[in-house]
Amino acid sequence: MASIFITRAVPDAAFELLRRELPDAKISINPHDRNLSHGELAEAAAGADALICTLADPVDDALLRALAPRLQVVATYAVGVNNIALPTARELGIAVCNTPDVLTDATAEIAVGLILACARRMVEGDKLMRQGEFGGWAPMFMRGHGVCGKTVGIVGAGRIGKRVARTMRMGFACPLLYHARTAHADWEDELQAERTGLDELLARSDFVSLHCPLTPHTKHLIDSAALARMKQTAFLINTARGPVVDESALVAALRDRRIAGAGLDVYENEPALAPGLADLDNVVLLPHIGSATHEVRDEMGRMCARAVIAVLTGQEPAHRVA
Ligand code: GLV
Ligand code: GLV
Repeated sequence: MASIFITRAVPDAAFELLRRELPDAKISINPHDRNLSHGELAEAAAGADALICTLADPVDDALLRALAPRLQVVATYAVGVNNIALPTARELGIAVCNTPDVLTDATAEIAVGLILACARRMVEGDKLMRQGEFGGWAPMFMRGHGVCGKTVGIVGAGRIGKRVARTMRMGFACPLLYHARTAHADWEDELQAERTGLDELLARSDFVSLHCPLTPHTKHLIDSAALARMKQTAFLINTARGPVVDESALVAALRDRRIAGAGLDVYENEPALAPGLADLDNVVLLPHIGSATHEVRDEMGRMCARAVIAVLTGQEPAHRVA
């Protein structure tokens, strides 16, 4: 009998699909309303043939070795796979599957929302209203930065970056810069985006939006030197992965007003925040909700379920990254 361990409660859609297609499987779910520690995860997942995990679970070399050779598939509730030891999975013949495409629009919505919220001081304004500090309309009151026509720099030319680029271009007439390892003809033809080096993108953009995966190469890509290259009137938006930004360096840059502001959905040491970050009024902080819509989370759950079903029934899964 196959055994499936799920590290967090998932929508019924995923569960029902597993039950229907694998009626004999034993399905266990982390009973706590919190993420498991490394040790708890190893213990709870012992003996599993399939693991459905999240981006918060450290599916590292030690865990995969402990679960091999029984474990056949890891399906992660995410597009990012930086928390999974892919080389080890390959070595051990464990399939790793993710949930690309379905969350592209939702994550792009959060990036665009953060651009607007930061530039137009929406969260600061909301807080002020609730505190009863609105003294009436005035010409000098709560001036922010306009968005239309401003230069947007996209770091990483994947699906989410492209969706943000298109929205900013079509909706807000923003000239676009992008930084990627290779040129993308579609960006240049469809979006008139200009490919630049990172330093030039940082120096010219009014909004820098990060859409690269977290890899050893992109860790702290945005450090104090990179922040120093940005315009004093520019904003940094991160909906990718926290460690792409040196969060302490960002706190210093925001505190000294070396950049205008930041909008963050991801953090270097989630769920913790760098000291001082939450005290600043020029940053908008969201709790990693890029893919958090009812529709998308249901579909991500179905995709994880389909990956598990495919592997456990001897078929090739659709979105296999290792
Ligand atoms: C979310 O951050 C994801 O990688 O899906
Ligand atoms: C990466 O998978 C992206 O969608 O940008």
